[in-house]
Amino acid sequence: MYCLALFIFLNVSFSTAISLDYTSLPSHPRLMFTEERVNAVNSMRESDTLYDNILTSLQSTADAAVATPLSLTSATSWSSTIRMNVGAVAGTYRLTSNETYSTWVAESILLLSGLPDWDPSNFLNTADIVMTISIGYDWVYETLSTDQRTMIEQAIISKAFTPALNSSINSWSEHTNNWAQVTNGCLIIATLAIGDTNSAIADEILDFTFPKLNVSLEQYGPDGGWIEGYSYGTYAGIFLGLTMGSLESALGNDLGISNLPGMSNLGAWLTHGFGQTGGFSWADGAWTFSNANSLWSVGYWAQKLSRPEWLQGMLSRFDTGEAATFQAFVFYNSSLMTPNVLSTMPRYEQFEGVAGMTYRTSWEDSSGWFFGFMGGFNGRSHGHLDAGSFVIDYNGYRWAELLGSDSYSLTNYFVSSRRWTYYRCRTEGANSLSISNTKQTALSFANQIPSANNSLRWVGSFDDSSRFGVANLTEAYSNVTNTVFRGVAFLNNSQLLIRDEILAPKAVDIATSWHTVATVSISSDKRSAMLTQSDTVMKLTIMSPSDAYLELEDTNPCNAYSSCSEAENSGIYNLAVRLGSLTTEANITTILTENGSKIISFDLPLNEWYSACTEDCWQSANVENPYWLAKSEVYY
Ligand SMILES: *[C@@H]1O[C@H](CO)[C@@H](O)[C@H](O)[C@H]1NC(C)=O
Ligand SMILES: *[C@@H]1O[C@H](CO)[C@@H](O)[C@H](O)[C@H]1NC(C)=O
Ligand SMILES: *[C@@H]1O[C@H](CO)[C@@H](O)[C@H](O)[C@H]1NC(C)=O
Ligand SMILES: *[C@@H]1O[C@H](CO)[C@@H](O)[C@H](O)[C@H]1NC(C)=O
Ligand SMILES: *[C@@H]1O[C@H](CO)[C@@H](O)[C@H](O)[C@H]1NC(C)=O
Ligand SMILES: *[C@@H]1O[C@H](CO)[C@@H](O)[C@H](O)[C@H]1NC(C)=O
Ligand SMILES: *[C@@H]1O[C@H](CO)[C@@H](O)[C@H](O)[C@H]1NC(C)=O
Ligand SMILES: *[C@@H]1O[C@H](CO)[C@@H](O)[C@H](O)[C@H]1NC(C)=O
Ligand SMILES: *[C@@H]1O[C@H](CO)[C@@H](O)[C@H](O)[C@H]1NC(C)=O
Ligand SMILES: *[C@@H]1O[C@H](CO)[C@@H](O)[C@H](O)[C@H]1NC(C)=O
Repeated sequence: MYCLALFIFLNVSFSTAISLDYTSLPSHPRLMFTEERVNAVNSMRESDTLYDNILTSLQSTADAAVATPLSLTSATSWSSTIRMNVGAVAGTYRLTSNETYSTWVAESILLLSGLPDWDPSNFLNTADIVMTISIGYDWVYETLSTDQRTMIEQAIISKAFTPALNSSINSWSEHTNNWAQVTNGCLIIATLAIGDTNSAIADEILDFTFPKLNVSLEQYGPDGGWIEGYSYGTYAGIFLGLTMGSLESALGNDLGISNLPGMSNLGAWLTHGFGQTGGFSWADGAWTFSNANSLWSVGYWAQKLSRPEWLQGMLSRFDTGEAATFQAFVFYNSSLMTPNVLSTMPRYEQFEGVAGMTYRTSWEDSSGWFFGFMGGFNGRSHGHLDAGSFVIDYNGYRWAELLGSDSYSLTNYFVSSRRWTYYRCRTEGANSLSISNTKQTALSFANQIPSANNSLRWVGSFDDSSRFGVANLTEAYSNVTNTVFRGVAFLNNSQLLIRDEILAPKAVDIATSWHTVATVSISSDKRSAMLTQSDTVMKLTIMSPSDAYLELEDTNPCNAYSSCSEAENSGIYNLAVRLGSLTTEANITTILTENGSKIISFDLPLNEWYSACTEDCWQSANVENPYWLAKSEVYY
């Protein structure tokens, strides 16, 4: 799912070599779940019911896993479930000393070690396998025989380290996106597991991987958002957190990673980017999360940076069973859970580096409102033409959603300009504006300009029951308009307003997209629509202009051409606002409320929103050239 078929070759120069003395690593276990940590976990669970329940749930996962021997005949069939099971079982062994668990771990990692190879042509698999084996090896080390240890170490060297250094097959190492954290991070963890007895190759691997990892990490600057969107940010975060945690426990420091720009706020981005029902995932990322696996590194950063609100905020999104993934053994700290700060923690954040903001009405009431809104830098790795998009949660449902990726095996899915023909990558398939100098028809709305850089301009609150953001989308439509701005404002704890202001030199057709899985019923005058999910009914109303109307657009790209392999988006509606005629100037305002709530009219022009801001007012420069690595992966 997270593969990316495009390789760009970089010419990165790095001056500072990092070196460490592998021969003086501490005894096993040294990767996070040390003897000291075991004692701390046992002591915390005595007085912390939540944690005790999480650990009990993890033991159930372990019991279920050990009931069946691992079976895998090819590394191409690797799945992250194996990582999660090995972690759950090995961690349960650490807590119980019950050899049923260590035996299963030993058998599993020996089986993996005996596979013919670890799928080096898809190095994401190789990396995940070598990390899983390394953690398993380290956590049950005391139960392994000398021969077993040697066999595992030799497998790590021949099936991960040697291929990693082989220049005829390691083009993956030039990736500067999420791949960098996964591949380099997992290899570094493996050097910490076996480097004491294999220090020469461990040195080589560290020299090879660390500078590449270090370069990729620059992209968390300036304020912690990850360039590929929320979902890929959480995926990279799994491996980055485990890498930092392993470095810290094995060496006592993280080789300077936590001092890099933006790194100190990554935990905030991951915490605030998770709404009431799922992530604010734009671009190729999915927004649903079945458990806390992808978010647990937040616990590591919360502890490292003394930010209890991150751990509490993250855990508030999951129930006990969902929180029970193996990172809970090592990234939880009871003392961060009291006092409960959820009622006072900030309910909003904004991130200049990804031009995104989020707001929620409550951390404690998961039926409250949440919205995420972005400008955005379209052409980046995994990007879509989705600048100006929003997602909205209320009462436990998502009312405006972004669709995530289509299949990565679609022809030239990662290559411009073919990428920009696919519905899910196009502007029409996002929740933004499509603007054209001719009348647009469904499934062929105009796109945004792929290289456009669209800053978030302002974020703030008019009072304590509101929050707004304004994005400058001018560059995205600069071939047909003079200026385009979009503002999203949540008002009076009860309604969400979207206002678009467009000025064009010649008359243009403007259409806005809004994707939802709710059942949609448009009123006979086409000025409002009811959106229904289960027993919740929301009402979307057009406030202006008076000739605008709502229309359901076709969302199945396969109705537009034959031999189509794109997702058909069944059950997903695009509730668009259309204008009566082409125009050189328009201000379009829509409001979403729960049906039956009073609609408050609010007609403030966007350029006055900031002066009406009274609380937590945030202003960003217009970022025409956002920070990108030289020759990074772009699609234009
Ligand atoms: C938990 O955090 C507190 C406060 O930061 C710290 O003193 C303590 O050592 C931590 N406990 C563990 C088990 O890491
Ligand atoms: C060890 O764990 C296994 C698997 O859950 C269980 O069946 C067994 O009773 C445990 N042994 C002890 C001594 O607790
Ligand atoms: C590098 O990989 C190529 C292609 O698989 C292989 O032919 C070659 O033997 C490898 N080199 C080393 C040193 O392993
Ligand atoms: C890591 O990158 C930072 C800049 O982001 C640089 O200052 C530092 O020297 C780099 N360290 C290594 C070991 O490459
Ligand atoms: C403006 O650029 C977009 C994106 O490339 C394209 O879809 C649209 O057709 C262009 N409009 C005109 C009038 O050239
Ligand atoms: C909006 O963006 C355009 C294009 O980057 C820029 O020229 C303009 O100054 C920006 N406007 C504001 C108000 O920031
Ligand atoms: C805001 O909502 C409250 C109910 O929650 C209502 O009493 C009040 O009139 C609303 N404010 C405005 C300006 O409509
Ligand atoms: C929406 O609210 C109105 C007024 O409260 C009510 O008459 C109508 O039945 C509601 N519609 C739905 C679909 O619940
Ligand atoms: C749109 O709003 C602006 C203020 O931001 C105003 O000057 C302009 O007259 C409005 N245009 C239309 C067509 O309503
Ligand atoms: C957006 O910023 C990137 C990175 O600096 C730059 O390559 C690109 O040309 C910019 N786009 C435009 C339209 O200026």
